[in-house]
Amino acid sequence: MSEKFYITTPIYYVNDAPHIGHAYTTIAADVLARFFRVVGRDVRFLTGTDEHGVKIVKAAQENNLSPQEMADSVVVHFKEMWKTLNISNDDFIRTSQDRHKNRVGRIVELLLERDEIYLGSYEGWYDEGQEEFVTDSVARANDFKSAINEQPLVRYSEPSYFFRLSKWAPKLIEYIEANPGFVMPELRRNEVLSRLRGGVDDLSFSRLAEKLGGWGVRLPNDPEHTVYVWIDALFNYLTATGLPEIGDEHDNRFGRYWPADVHLIGKDILWFHAVYWPCLLMALDFPLPKRVFAHGWWTSEGRKMSKSLGNFISAETITELCKEYSRDVLRYFLLREIAFGSDGDFSRNSFRERYHAELANGVGNLLSRTTNMINRYFNGELPAAEKPGPEEQPVIEAAANLSKNAVSIMERLAFQEYLEAVQQLVNATNKYIEVTEPFKLARDDSQRARLGAILNTCAQATRITFEWLYPYMPESAVLGLAALGLGGPGPGSLLERTAWGKLPAGTAIKKASPLYPRKE
Ligand code: ME8
Ligand code: MG
Repeated sequence: MSEKFYITTPIYYVNDAPHIGHAYTTIAADVLARFFRVVGRDVRFLTGTDEHGVKIVKAAQENNLSPQEMADSVVVHFKEMWKTLNISNDDFIRTSQDRHKNRVGRIVELLLERDEIYLGSYEGWYDEGQEEFVTDSVARANDFKSAINEQPLVRYSEPSYFFRLSKWAPKLIEYIEANPGFVMPELRRNEVLSRLRGGVDDLSFSRLAEKLGGWGVRLPNDPEHTVYVWIDALFNYLTATGLPEIGDEHDNRFGRYWPADVHLIGKDILWFHAVYWPCLLMALDFPLPKRVFAHGWWTSEGRKMSKSLGNFISAETITELCKEYSRDVLRYFLLREIAFGSDGDFSRNSFRERYHAELANGVGNLLSRTTNMINRYFNGELPAAEKPGPEEQPVIEAAANLSKNAVSIMERLAFQEYLEAVQQLVNATNKYIEVTEPFKLARDDSQRARLGAILNTCAQATRITFEWLYPYMPESAVLGLAALGLGGPGPGSLLERTAWGKLPAGTAIKKASPLYPRKE
């Protein structure tokens, strides 16, 4: 059996429509899922929506809907967005589903049995937009407003169950120290470690059910209390696999995928994933996820995205960009523009520039030139190769570099570096065409074999380019491969297919129409 790979995105709140931030995380997860599928792993890719909590209750009230109606109407936009962006998730979990709620109830029972939760009372500040407790000192430093959306913090004072987080924190510190790949990137890992070393309190685990109008998962032992939305939400990654078993039809169906290989998240929700989540799992004796990767934050045209500033990259704007360019181009840009883990700025100008430099004049031009010349000079039949000489070396090396490093680059989630390696192959091949000047050789009959060999080299390199681009740009890669007489990715392992020279002489090569046409 092939090695499994389980990847998740955060489950997104259904108080509002999706935007570029949600799209970013989900596209990154999709690229990883597609990549590991084509290299032969048994992939499971989960996304979904976070539907409980006070944030949803309030948004529903403002819209004169019940929380369930609110969730049902917004979830459609997320599902549409993932269709628009060609997301290949295997499952979509909603926390309002019974398969999830019933398992969260079972988890509460298990924690009670293990004496991991107890009744106390909570007194302190709460950020309702983030669904996050805020310590007194942080609240004061931010003038009792949310650091994220500047709304006033709310004072909570109520009986609450607590999870014994403080008991597990020292074990977690040891674990993070011993497993450098657990929290990535390293900067984020260090942030988590230093905050943990400062000490943590036990975690408020419940809200009063009446304050949420009954929306959420009740504690089975004490139905006046509802499970704190973040705890409910984190468990989606486990409940979606059918764990823990509760005796329904979902039981353990995908349990073989646990633990997750990567939880992809934004840096805003690192603490929940790197601290609460592993401690809860330790308390339940479940294996910990192998990696939590926190990516950076997008701004738009140099400023924080906001509806009032007019720079908000909404679902509508995303759909527009997909029409104007294509969804492949948007996927490419988001992962190419900034190193995964760093913050970055989304600007229309750099989108356009990168499109022209790397796609229209880069990959697209390579495909057009190669297939046009094979059609013009060889009637669309791939000519034979010759033994490669020094002129071919840079091209062959750039291709070999990808075969050698692509998997490890993707295991580090270094999307930008991966696309850089693809661009090196494209540039080396475009340069090769300029240096060898096949269009000149075509005028000289004595150079026929050399001309054929050059075009063979170009076709091999173009094929390899599209094979590796496939996870990022699935549609245009399939078109590019089809022009080269190939039926898209597979069968067989990607590493075999991308070995040099695998495209046989005699293959019918079609004249490709421009994949990435220039924009005026
Ligand atoms: O936090 N740049 O949901 P959420 C980059 N329900 N990524 C961004 C972004 C931006 N400007 N804005 C949002 C929640 N994101 C919880 C998660 S998981 C058990 C529960 C992305 O709808 C990024 O992935 O607020 C961030 O972590 C996520 O959207 C937050 O989505
Ligand atoms: Mg948020």
